[in-house]
Amino acid sequence: MQNIIYRIIGGPAYNKGILAADESSPTIKKRFDSIGVDSTEGTRHSYRHNLFSTDRLEDYIGGVILFDETIRNDETVLPLKEKGICLGIKVDKGAKPYDDNGGKLTEGLDGLPDRLKEYGKLGAEFAKWRAVLSVNDTDACIIANAWTLARYAKKCQDEGIVPIVEPEVIMDGRHSIHTSNEFTQKVLHHVFDALYYEKVELESIILKPNMVLNGYASKTPLPTNFSDAKKTITNSHVVALYTVNCFKKCVPSAVPMIAFLSGGQADGDAVQNLNEMNSSFLTPWPLSFSFGRELQNNSLILWGDGELELSREALLRRAIQCSMATEGELNEFVSV
Ligand code: 13P
Repeated sequence: MQNIIYRIIGGPAYNKGILAADESSPTIKKRFDSIGVDSTEGTRHSYRHNLFSTDRLEDYIGGVILFDETIRNDETVLPLKEKGICLGIKVDKGAKPYDDNGGKLTEGLDGLPDRLKEYGKLGAEFAKWRAVLSVNDTDACIIANAWTLARYAKKCQDEGIVPIVEPEVIMDGRHSIHTSNEFTQKVLHHVFDALYYEKVELESIILKPNMVLNGYASKTPLPTNFSDAKKTITNSHVVALYTVNCFKKCVPSAVPMIAFLSGGQADGDAVQNLNEMNSSFLTPWPLSFSFGRELQNNSLILWGDGELELSREALLRRAIQCSMATEGELNEFVSV
């Protein structure tokens, strides 16, 4: 399994990441609604086939996460197979109500080994399971999600499939970056506790976490009182500092790849933040990306306007920037 991760991350250069194109039917409908396009099997195929046909995508993207409908459509995934990009598959069945506090628990463990076997035959080498947590969730909710993630990860490894372990703390709300930091640490501690007890091999997982941010509706400005050598403390620097410190406290160095989600940050912020982490801090793990919206947003709008070539160029441009950010060498002006 470690050789799969090595291919995804683009070893030995370590400059590739993951394109998350596994939007569930309701989520892709929401994305298509935003550009006034009906979500049908046909439009979903056209959109994704266009993305996957992007020239040189394989130089920056080592893996693509797919939805069930997509991996079953040979025509949609053919360009990825031709480029040698690893195929991943979302295997969870979504987050369902868990308690009266608004907590959610992701489901989908029933029948998972059989589904993994089938996906393996369809070419999947890695899988994804997303737990959705909010800073108001109870400890019981966090622990239930952590153990479910660990059970999923163990079942994947038993089938020779690399599990992406995604405990996403969503940033909706008015909480401060301090709250995000404390809550994310608590979640990560429970996740790694559960992975330990389930005997999940840490060397063969990919961790897909949130960055540590202010809640999107927070009125508290980011802190700026750092004794830092840099003269100007940018927002990205604060996010990078909080995120790296948070993960250093909770994530064992055996984990071979941390691939951040973008989580609905403003366009371009996630790639900037990743770049700042890699340019300003030393970490025990490679820090990469598994972005959905950050990679696709501009591309989606252009596709909706019928600009297929420009849409592919927008994806390529952002993929190049993300790759540069894995090395801390982001350049905002990339020509493709
Ligand atoms: P975003 O980068 O848009 O958050 O999507 C990543 C993802 O796959 C969430 O599960």
